[in-house]
Amino acid sequence: MSASEDSIPGRLLDWYDRHARALPWRSPPGSPAPDPYRVWLSEVMLQQTTTAAVAPYYARFLERWPTVDALAAADDAEVMAAWAGLGYYSRARNLIAAARAVAARGGFPDSEGELRALPGVGIYIAAAVAAIAFGRRAVVVDANVERVVSRLFAISAPLPGVRGEIRRWTDAITPASRAGDFAQAMMDLGATICTPRDPRCLLCPISGDCAAREEGEPARYPVRAAK
Ligand code: ADE
Repeated sequence: MSASEDSIPGRLLDWYDRHARALPWRSPPGSPAPDPYRVWLSEVMLQQTTTAAVAPYYARFLERWPTVDALAAADDAEVMAAWAGLGYYSRARNLIAAARAVAARGGFPDSEGELRALPGVGIYIAAAVAAIAFGRRAVVVDANVERVVSRLFAISAPLPGVRGEIRRWTDAITPASRAGDFAQAMMDLGATICTPRDPRCLLCPISGDCAAREEGEPARYPVRAAK
């Protein structure tokens, strides 16, 4: 079933169809899903790094190793050298190990549970790949999504303890179809409109649903535990 047009996911998907950022690892909204290798590679790179910093690395990796089988056969030192500058080098070591595991089994698994068995693939990346590459309904929560959801529902309990509650609310608004576009719409909303300071509520497609905006001070969310 698709999200009704006047629901939260319906409004978000409609906004995404018009305003999705054209990022190199994406297919345009509504077009066939991108190759799981591209989605996985981009999500591993993006986990601790900004989209702007990732873009040139992503392009170089794809050019040098266009498929997961090519990456599985790569020389470790060459991969580590290509990763240099992105930091968090355990990600690169896991990348090589996961590529070899995927090549050995003949392709990417399409469920969150099996994806999570791959080195370096945690809850977030498994959900993102399942939703974006395989169209699975998966609940994708990153820091942008946390901010959007905590505002939408004015969740006043502090992070990090409230993560479970944020996940349940995200689950409640994730549509059965287009879950990958929905996840990326939430990320884009958080990155471009529902920003940490001075959110641009006048441009937000779901401001009418937003409890934090109704209260008048959306930037007070997400609440964080005192250090
Ligand atoms: N950050 C992590 N994954 C992303 C994606 N698929 N699109 C935009 N930003 C992201």
